[in-house]
Amino acid sequence: MAVSWYAVAFLAATALGASIAPNQQVFEKSACGRVWMTIHSPSIRTSGGGSLLDAIELNWDFSTCSNVPMQIGLFDNRPLSWNNAIAVFSIDSVEGFVITNVSLGEGKLPAGWNTGTGFKGPHCLWPWVGAGDSHIVAYNCLKIQPTWMEDNSDRINKLRIGELVIPGTHNAGAWRFDTEISTISRDSFVLCQDRSIWAQLVHGIRYFDFRIAYYDFYPREEDRYWLNHNLIRVRPLLPLLREIRAFLDSTKEVVFLDAHHFPLGFYHQNGAPIQEVHLGLLRLVQLELGPHIATASQFATGPGTRGPTLQTLVDADKRLLFSYVDNNIVAGNRWLWPILPHLWANTNSPSDLFHYLDRMIDISPLPSARSPLFSAMAQTTPTVLDILFLRGSLRENADSVNRNVTARLISRWRHNANIISSDFFLANDVIDVSIALSVERSNRL
Ligand SMILES: *[C@@H]1O[C@H](CO)[C@@H](O)[C@H](O)[C@H]1NC(C)=O
Ligand SMILES: *[C@@H]1O[C@H](CO)[C@@H](O)[C@H](O)[C@H]1NC(C)=O
Repeated sequence: MAVSWYAVAFLAATALGASIAPNQQVFEKSACGRVWMTIHSPSIRTSGGGSLLDAIELNWDFSTCSNVPMQIGLFDNRPLSWNNAIAVFSIDSVEGFVITNVSLGEGKLPAGWNTGTGFKGPHCLWPWVGAGDSHIVAYNCLKIQPTWMEDNSDRINKLRIGELVIPGTHNAGAWRFDTEISTISRDSFVLCQDRSIWAQLVHGIRYFDFRIAYYDFYPREEDRYWLNHNLIRVRPLLPLLREIRAFLDSTKEVVFLDAHHFPLGFYHQNGAPIQEVHLGLLRLVQLELGPHIATASQFATGPGTRGPTLQTLVDADKRLLFSYVDNNIVAGNRWLWPILPHLWANTNSPSDLFHYLDRMIDISPLPSARSPLFSAMAQTTPTVLDILFLRGSLRENADSVNRNVTARLISRWRHNANIISSDFFLANDVIDVSIALSVERSNRL
């Protein structure tokens, strides 16, 4: 890789470190190269014959270093000595990863964020990674970034929303069934995430791609809106909007919500929108998130531009942008943001996915784009046959691309990517890399 990670890692360390004074701590450090942790998305087999979910992975990239450290280890605290390592592995390549057989466990959110608003700044979950020879020269922890926009506001607030790098989740609501009994085949091809919306926000996700369906058999209107994966009902929408509301109420972060697909109940047979169903959804969003909504009529900056700065949104204290996939409805409701283009490769092949995204990110946004934002859909899509024959699963698909997504974001996509939406986001390092790259971009202005 031709790019220097050093500059980014350094920026990340200073930017994040500076945000949590007076109790200033640096969670990530390396003289050159970088180590980081991810969570393996498929379950693994253990030597005892059981299976283990959420195995911790240790990742390294020392391609910019003159010496590659000899070993890497897992720790349950800041790595100071190899004597305290839980597991140690030798390093035999300049970049790579190992899957440990240690599970993250319940992944309790630290610093008060598990149940409500906690302390500002990044905080570590329990696992740490360290690498070096006799001495540990590089370390990092698995983090939450609940207030990263505010922590870095001095720098990144001057960026326009289209100039930021924004970590997002694909099918954000599809994380656990809250409905009829699930089956293995459904779970394997329906659930794209394994963390709640609250936990996604606390980890640092700021963009949600929602697929909303309407079921008229519920007596109360507010219960009729569900998040779906295509035709499968996964969770009711209302509680998810309330999690977003609680987060916006207690932070200064900006959140992008994208109603990207209406698989059921929103259209007549002839394709015309069912106005009452759309308007019911808009009422629900206004009722739940209203005080935080940044209306497009007030804040949009015109086709082909990159939108308002973060500063403008924070100063106005309007920090929720709602984009809507139907231009007819947008035309009649000027507070909605226009269709947010999704770069969707629609392929089950990782190499086709990356070829497509490389090309499309380079040419996005189009000069005439009405939305200042665009989202790279950084996941493969199973074919109908994959699903029929239970070939693979979304967890395995995510595993086959997520490491490359992290690597691509640092290199090829570094200057032009905007939103990166992934599946099983803990299996990549998009959050920390997005923060570092947003800071890097602001330094160039
Ligand atoms: C976990 O990995 C270690 C080596 O790091 C090995 O000694 C141990 O047997 C493994 N345990 C299980 C349960 O697979
Ligand atoms: C993903 O990254 C690995 C390791 O760098 C590389 O060997 C592989 O070709 C990459 N895959 C794609 C589809 O780019």
